[in-house]
Amino acid sequence: MTSPTPSPTALRVAVTGGSGKLGRAVVRDLAAHGWEVVLLDRVPSPDPVEGVTFVQVDLSDYGQVLQALTHVDDRYDSIDAVVHLGAIPAPGLVPNATLFHNNVTGSYNVFAAARAAHVRNVVWASSETLLGIPFDLDPPYLPLDEEYAVRPESSYSLGKALDEEMARHFTRWDRQLKMIGLRFSNVMDDGDYEDFPWDETPEKKTFNLFSYIDARDGAQAVRRALESDLVGYEAFIIAATDTVMATPTAVLADQFWPDVERRAAVEGTDSLLSSDKARDLLGFVPEYSWRTWGDRVGKQPEAAVADEDDLDL
Ligand SMILES: NC(=O)c1ccc[n+]([C@@H]2O[C@H](COP(=O)([O-])OP(=O)(O)OC[C@H]3O[C@@H](n4cnc5c(N)ncnc54)[C@H](O)[C@@H]3O)[C@@H](O)[C@H]2O)c1
Repeated sequence: MTSPTPSPTALRVAVTGGSGKLGRAVVRDLAAHGWEVVLLDRVPSPDPVEGVTFVQVDLSDYGQVLQALTHVDDRYDSIDAVVHLGAIPAPGLVPNATLFHNNVTGSYNVFAAARAAHVRNVVWASSETLLGIPFDLDPPYLPLDEEYAVRPESSYSLGKALDEEMARHFTRWDRQLKMIGLRFSNVMDDGDYEDFPWDETPEKKTFNLFSYIDARDGAQAVRRALESDLVGYEAFIIAATDTVMATPTAVLADQFWPDVERRAAVEGTDSLLSSDKARDLLGFVPEYSWRTWGDRVGKQPEAAVADEDDLDL
């Protein structure tokens, strides 16, 4: 099949939730790679990017979403691709039903409006939570991949599961449509890395098997998904290649999940969330790690400094 996006040059992409943590990195990355970006959010970005058009939209209102993906006077008269990130990003921030209503209605509205506007290139934020987070039940095997049925354990995650199910059917209705769900791990940026590594409190990071993704690598994954020539529905785990820990991953796995089947060897501090499918089908290779954060900003993570102070040198 041919690509729905033969070239990003001069193509216009709408990014919902573009004012948020991941969205700001996505907007910056896409604008830097030749996309004309329209940012759809209920609030403006605290970090606006030159040349990016902001339109205030409430994603829970289908009429607003349909118009925003079609035509906005004095701004634009068509949209070529959609990146849908606008959602409440974790359980517990608002009551369950409020979160579910906001996120699932928003996704339906974006998917349906894209269809009505004949936009056939849709990438959206799914979530690692579908893998079974917070793993009160053991994972089925390690490292985890996309090969087992999703295990939502919260209203937030249930919403993400329904997003993926909706996408399956939207792509069944239109065989030319591309819908890629990116199951992002816990999104981090430079402001978060002072707290790394987490070896003194590993129990705070077992919930997602010690994984994370740098927002800039999340943005890279979005761009590669947008520019890929896949057609139909696909879901990809998007995680950093390493963990949030200094302790070797095999040691952690033996400590916390001793009875779980090992499907592949993990070396050093390799992640227990495999992004191999994204590497193989999208060409996604993460470029950022908390381990090089200190070199980049001329600092060391606090915990690492404390560890050194504790050493009997
Ligand atoms: N942060 C993470 O660790 C993480 C992990 C996996 C997946 N995700 C997903 O990635 C996406 C982005 O997450 P984030 O961390 O950038 O969140 P964020 O809260 O920083 O940004 C979300 C943005 O969506 C907007 N939004 C939410 N509901 C809206 C509505 N009804 N109408 C208009 N705008 C609305 C908010 O105003 C906000 O700017 C979300 O879909 C989230 O579920 C996040």
